[in-house]
Amino acid sequence: MPGKRKRSLIIVIDGPAGAGKSTTAKEVARRADLDYVDSGAMYRGFTYLYLKHGKDRSRLKDLLDSHGLRFEFHSTEARVYHGDTEITGDIRSDSVNSHVSDVAAMEEVRNTVRKLLRQVSRDSDVVLEGRDLGTVVFPDADFKFFLTADPEARALRRYDERIGKGEQVSLDQVRENVETRDRIDSNRDIAPLMKADDAVEIDSTFLTFEEQVTRILQYIRNTPTATTKIDIS
Ligand code: CDP
Repeated sequence: MPGKRKRSLIIVIDGPAGAGKSTTAKEVARRADLDYVDSGAMYRGFTYLYLKHGKDRSRLKDLLDSHGLRFEFHSTEARVYHGDTEITGDIRSDSVNSHVSDVAAMEEVRNTVRKLLRQVSRDSDVVLEGRDLGTVVFPDADFKFFLTADPEARALRRYDERIGKGEQVSLDQVRENVETRDRIDSNRDIAPLMKADDAVEIDSTFLTFEEQVTRILQYIRNTPTATTKIDIS
C-alpha cells in the first residue's frame, strides 16, 4: 500500500535469570546491526524509583505517570538515568535485585513498560530481551527465542559475573536470588515468564557463548521473513 511504512524487525529473547540473554542479545544485535533493548533494565529502573519513594503503592500511579527515567541502550550496557542522575549501577543493587520481581508483577508497572517497549521498537530494527516479550509484548515478533540453562549453571554464571565486577557476594546469595526471582516471575498472574509456543528454545547449559550466538544467527539467516532481509556479518 503506497505510503505505508514497512514495520520494523523485531527479534525477542526471553528466558530466566542468568541464561545469558543480555550478552547473547547484545552480540546478536552487534553482528546483525540491530538496536538492543533490555526490558529488565526498565523494570529495574521502576523498582529503584518505587524503593526511593518508600514502597508506597498509593503513589505508584503518579510515579509511573511522571517517572523521569531515561534508558540508553549501548552494545556493552544499558544506561539508565533519573533526571540528570545516572542510576545504571543502582538498578543492579541488592535491594533492587530483591524487590524487582514483586514490582514487575504489578499490573500498572507492566502496562507502562509494555508501552515503552513498543515505543522504542516502533522505528528501528531491534533485538529485545526479557520474560514475556514473545508471549505478551510482541506476539507477532519476527523471531522468538527462549534461552534457558540448568539452574545451577545460571546461578554460577551470575555469580562469576558479579565477582568479575568486583562485587562482594556469595554463591548462596546469588543462587537464592535467582531461584526466588524465577519462582515469582514464573508464577505471577500477569505475563508470567513462559516460552511462547512458536519460540525456538535453546538450552545453553553446555554451549559456549559463541555457539549460543551462532545458533541464533544461523536460525535467523536460514529463515526468510516476510518483512525484512537482515545482513549478518
Ligand atoms: O538479568 P536478569 O535476567 O537477572 O534480570 P533482568 O532481565 O534484569 O530482569 C529483572 C527482573 O525484571 C526479572 O527477574 C523480572 O522480575 C522482571 N522482568 C519482567 O518481569 N519482564 C521482563 N520482560 C523483563 C524483566
